[in-house]
Amino acid sequence: MAVRSPTLLNVAFIDRYGWTGKFATLEKVSFAPIMAAGNLNLTEAALIARLSAVPTYVQAFSTTFPDHKIDRKNIAMALATYVRSIQSTPAPFDRWILGDENAISPAAKHGFAIFNGKGNCAQCHSGWAFTDGSFHDIGVAKGNDIGRGAFFKSSVKLRYAFKTPTLRNVAERSPYMHDGSVPTLEAVIDLYNRGGIDRPSRSELIHPLGLTPTEKADLIAFLKTLTSETEVVALPPPPR
Ligand code: HEC
Repeated sequence: MAVRSPTLLNVAFIDRYGWTGKFATLEKVSFAPIMAAGNLNLTEAALIARLSAVPTYVQAFSTTFPDHKIDRKNIAMALATYVRSIQSTPAPFDRWILGDENAISPAAKHGFAIFNGKGNCAQCHSGWAFTDGSFHDIGVAKGNDIGRGAFFKSSVKLRYAFKTPTLRNVAERSPYMHDGSVPTLEAVIDLYNRGGIDRPSRSELIHPLGLTPTEKADLIAFLKTLTSETEVVALPPPPR
């Protein structure tokens, strides 16, 4: 099953990576896309040969790792360490929380109240990164796309369950959901308002919400206040 790449934003603060949580550590994630046919499609030997041909890499691996080697273990460690530095920076929402009443609009403030109340959103999208780091069926996936259920066959609730994504910078990350099936934030809110597919695995928190057009618009106004105001990570210069 092809999935939309999950964001790398703030992954330093979660565990069980990927939409279904199949990777235990970031070190284990890093080699999967390098070798996967649908991603970089490289063999370990080809990757090591490529890196070994670049003097900057040879020198960097040599000075960074005690065994000086360009090998799978050190490449995975280097990539995972870099990925942990990809973190959101403060957003207008944070300035509001710190006391600047003008940082976000009245509509967005109302949207935050719905997020915590009528919408039930904060029950799963909790904490500063707006994720509980857990797995839920929100009534989106269908057929064989059973998510974390593939690892826990007897669990009713993990069938069709996927990892709650962070909502930091969410306005910049369409299309949405693990399969990219929802094109816009408007469509995401419509989906929650309808309540998704009603079935035994669906979370008790998901049900038709009865949101008015204004409430929907205000929720979206709130989600847009979560976009970092400064660049999230500066790209390092390409090695030679
Ligand atoms: C039961 C837990 C739960 C509740 C309640 C919930 N969400 Fe989610 N949310 C998730 C999960 C799990 C996903 C990923 C589902 C998938 O990929 O199939 C998700 C995905 C999203 C996404 C897409 C993010 C992306 O990067 O693809 C947005 C936006 C979102 N939720 C906003 C909301 C809003 C707004 C509410 C309230 C109306 C809400 N959520 C309520 C668990 C929840």
